[in-house]
Amino acid sequence: MKRILIVNGPNLNLLGRREPEIYGYTNCETIISQLRERFPDLTIDYFQSNHEGELIDRLQQVGYDAGTGIVLNAGAYTHTSLALADCIAAIEVPVIEVHISNVHAREEIRHRSLISPVATGIIVGLGTDVYRLGVEALTRL
Ligand code: DQA
Repeated sequence: MKRILIVNGPNLNLLGRREPEIYGYTNCETIISQLRERFPDLTIDYFQSNHEGELIDRLQQVGYDAGTGIVLNAGAYTHTSLALADCIAAIEVPVIEVHISNVHAREEIRHRSLISPVATGIIVGLGTDVYRLGVEALTRL
């Protein structure tokens, strides 16, 4: 695995100031720069969108590139988007589903993920460290 794409879905552009008691105080820029420092041999790209179709377009763009892996936090689309799940099922690169909060300890609607059945693996509830753990998992595949 040489190239990693970190994908954040809706409202995750607000990390650091969005409900920090749930999602922490670290913003996206810090998360990505820490990942680049920690994994200097990897090319780490970042994409965030609040729009379902834009997320699908970006996943499709890299979805057949050998040597690429995706760490995906789809935000609330995790629980609702059959289109995103279909996209992940269609593409060939590994996708690690991550969630900062422990979705299983929250409202019932967050317990169901449409993405989990088609993800390569799942990392949940360990704070923003889930992104690092997702990258590490991809490097070991
Ligand atoms: C989240 C959990 C989702 O339920 C929520 O809608 C998010 C963030 C997480 O990282 O904990 O936006 O994916």
